[in-house]
Amino acid sequence: MRFISCADYTAMSRQAANLISAQVIVKPNCVLGLATGSTPIGTYKQLIEWYNKGDLSFAQVRSVNLDEYKGLSGDHDQSYRYFMQNNLFNHVDIDVANTSVPNGKAEDADAECAAYDAHIRELGGIDLQLLGMGHNGHIGFNEPADEFVGPTHVVELAQSTIDANKRFFASEADVPRQALTMGMAAILQARSVVVVVSGEDKAEIVHKAFFGPITPRVPASLLQLHPNVTVVGDEAAFSVLRKEGCL
Ligand code: GLP
Repeated sequence: MRFISCADYTAMSRQAANLISAQVIVKPNCVLGLATGSTPIGTYKQLIEWYNKGDLSFAQVRSVNLDEYKGLSGDHDQSYRYFMQNNLFNHVDIDVANTSVPNGKAEDADAECAAYDAHIRELGGIDLQLLGMGHNGHIGFNEPADEFVGPTHVVELAQSTIDANKRFFASEADVPRQALTMGMAAILQARSVVVVVSGEDKAEIVHKAFFGPITPRVPASLLQLHPNVTVVGDEAAFSVLRKEGCL
């Protein structure tokens, strides 16, 4: 596991974008695993800037997103499909037909999950998976639980996640209670993983996840077993790592 410590959010975003752009340059038709949440927004902004400068093309890139709220359609402004269109896809030359986000409106959510995993397999797996991390250590929407779940699946959101995400909705009651999320298998099988973390409020969980016991109570801790993980964080998010002498 590599740690790249950056002065602030902007520098962190730039470093993460550098890793992604290196992947796209080396393998133009790579499969990118993409993430939502507020942390990767700056990374996407930087990628868009480099695309606009002509430094980068997504014309052949295929993408698979981690998760989607169950019950939200892609045109709902809080859906993760909508997020991706607005924060990246609409601004670069990626072919939308080559992008995938689980369908939150699928009539048979379990069948949608199975089809999602089959699609990832058909693509040959994920070359680079970008991840943010929740305050409870969730990745995608793999919430703390008694066991790790391998396949893409429907999950009940933790109350802390609902609370954290309610700022984006009109009220807490509007936050969906369930989501479809890629499981730990596709994430762990990604050939490389880039985790972005920012802010003091992530400092404790960053330490727990990457230096604590590997446990489904902290889903991101499983990444300790992955051979190619780069954690890109700002000083605030790495403050406990620094205090504990981990860096
Ligand atoms: C959401 C997403 C995760 C994301 C996490 C952290 O619930 N499903 O993929 O990593 O929240 O979000 P943020 O980056 O806003 O802290």
